Amino acid sequence: MSRTPLMAGNWKMNLDHLEANHLVQGLAMELRDHNHDYSRCEVLVIPPFTDIRTVQTIVDADELGIKYGAQDVSIHDNGAYTGEISTSMLTKLGCTYVVMGHSERREYHNESDELVGAKARKVLDAGMTPILCCGEALEVRKAGTHVEFVLSQIRAALAGWSAQDVAQIVIAYEPIWAIGTGETATAEDAQEVCGAIRSALAQDFGAETAEVTRVLYGGSAKPDNIKELMAQPDIDGALIGGASLKADSFAEMARFYA
Ligand code: PGA
Repeated sequence: MSRTPLMAGNWKMNLDHLEANHLVQGLAMELRDHNHDYSRCEVLVIPPFTDIRTVQTIVDADELGIKYGAQDVSIHDNGAYTGEISTSMLTKLGCTYVVMGHSERREYHNESDELVGAKARKVLDAGMTPILCCGEALEVRKAGTHVEFVLSQIRAALAGWSAQDVAQIVIAYEPIWAIGTGETATAEDAQEVCGAIRSALAQDFGAETAEVTRVLYGGSAKPDNIKELMAQPDIDGALIGGASLKADSFAEMARFYA
């Protein structure tokens, strides 16, 4: 497969920098003990901003294969934006990925598709990889319009983008009703939407772009269901919340291929 699988641990607002240190050391040890093959699965941690420097220090000192990134970013370069973090602050710390449009930010911070798209643009321009999140609420799923809904989120965020740029992003499909609820979408449900995303990318940006763009699933992904999810043709990895907070469960998920 031309798409390298990606296991991304979204820590959300969990773990202070001391706990982050502990988790990354533990994760590195688990992966090393099992001879993790990073070419078969990229491993990414996405801690709160206040932990990033700590994670960088460990990754650099021990030359770990683990990558790290941020959960959000500002669309501004610098200036009077109290509480915001810029892309250059993140690149300076060695971040290589940034998440945008997570449903929790869309809900609690009123983030629109346009803003999410602008963040993705900013991140790509800074040389990092955007992880663009999308996903429907339970009412939408019940109404049966989840595919349309998700595609409209993606199309609005990527309006006017070139195929070359789209090929460099990661899309994460996370049905809101499955996030942190223990209720995972079935592998078939996840594949239905991830497959539809890839078809829409092919339609809008060409088959080659669709073939290389990674699409992740997120929402109660765990060691128990990761193999089945990863066996789906259009699922290239997972965005993992709860199960990424424990070194052993996250490392086990990264070894889905073993
Ligand atoms: P969860 O979170 O794995 O705890 O459901 C996933 C996410 O929100 O990224």
